[in-house]
Amino acid sequence: MSRVAVVRKLLDAGLIPLQDRFEVRVGGLGSSDQGWPSLVAGASAIVADPTVKVDAELLDAAGTQLRLVANFAVGHDNVDLGACRERSVIVTNTPDVLTNATAELALALTLSAARLFPEAEADLRNGRWTGWDPTAYRGLELSGSTVGVVGMGRIGARYAELVCGFGVELLYTSRSPKPEAESALGAVRVGLIELLSRADVVSLHAPATPETHHMVDSEALALMKPTSVLVNTARGTLVDSTALASALVDGRIAAAGLDVYEGEPQVPEALLAAPNAVLLPHIGSATRKARDGMALTVAENVIAVLSGDQPPNRVV
Ligand code: DGY
Repeated sequence: MSRVAVVRKLLDAGLIPLQDRFEVRVGGLGSSDQGWPSLVAGASAIVADPTVKVDAELLDAAGTQLRLVANFAVGHDNVDLGACRERSVIVTNTPDVLTNATAELALALTLSAARLFPEAEADLRNGRWTGWDPTAYRGLELSGSTVGVVGMGRIGARYAELVCGFGVELLYTSRSPKPEAESALGAVRVGLIELLSRADVVSLHAPATPETHHMVDSEALALMKPTSVLVNTARGTLVDSTALASALVDGRIAAAGLDVYEGEPQVPEALLAAPNAVLLPHIGSATRKARDGMALTVAENVIAVLSGDQPPNRVV
């Protein structure tokens, strides 16, 4: 019977179909990278998630019978794709099922940051609210604003669709033009520099690659309007968090809404201290529907590969 190693945790929606067919070993959420090599030894499939670094060492610890790394996420920057290719190991991910959840969270962060929720709520909770004040908490109104979507893949496109309901002007960057977004939403494709300097809201939806590493750095932030808002639900490495924290503190941009960080679960002190940042703990896909969908997608990919079929969501 083929063995499947779930390095940390897989929800029942995916775990049960795997247990029905294979020998499944589960490391658990508390497992540490030191235990992972022995956990994966002898496995034909490894189920990883964004916190599990799948590198040459872990692949070799699994052994030459390894056929698949099924990532429990749409992003796969935790997996060394080159090392998988070299060993003829297939890699799959979980697109589509989390598109709505993540785009909706990006919209929630957009509104919360634009309307300065963290500062307003902290004042109220800490007894600093002294009554209605026409000068206080004057945020950005989404209606009539310009929204810049960086990366018009599935999640970026869904976010664009949602935000369009507010009556915004839409700019986007993308490796290739997106005619549907242009005709249906009136989105205009521009370069990153133009997007950063014209947008009132900049929302990041690009994958983590060497090209996107720190794409929002101090120079990029200097291009943004002092009234603008940055939203990141993609990956922490897209933003230089030290530069962002100083831009927030110095008022060089108005606010940020973040769900992802470099070096998670560590969050830079400077960001924690910024009153104009809404900070969430990487919950973009955290709806019951999306997470069950992701788990089931993982199972479908594992079952397909271990049955000798093409997996539905092959990356490599
Ligand atoms: C992903 O899928 O890449 C998210 O970051 C986790 O849901």
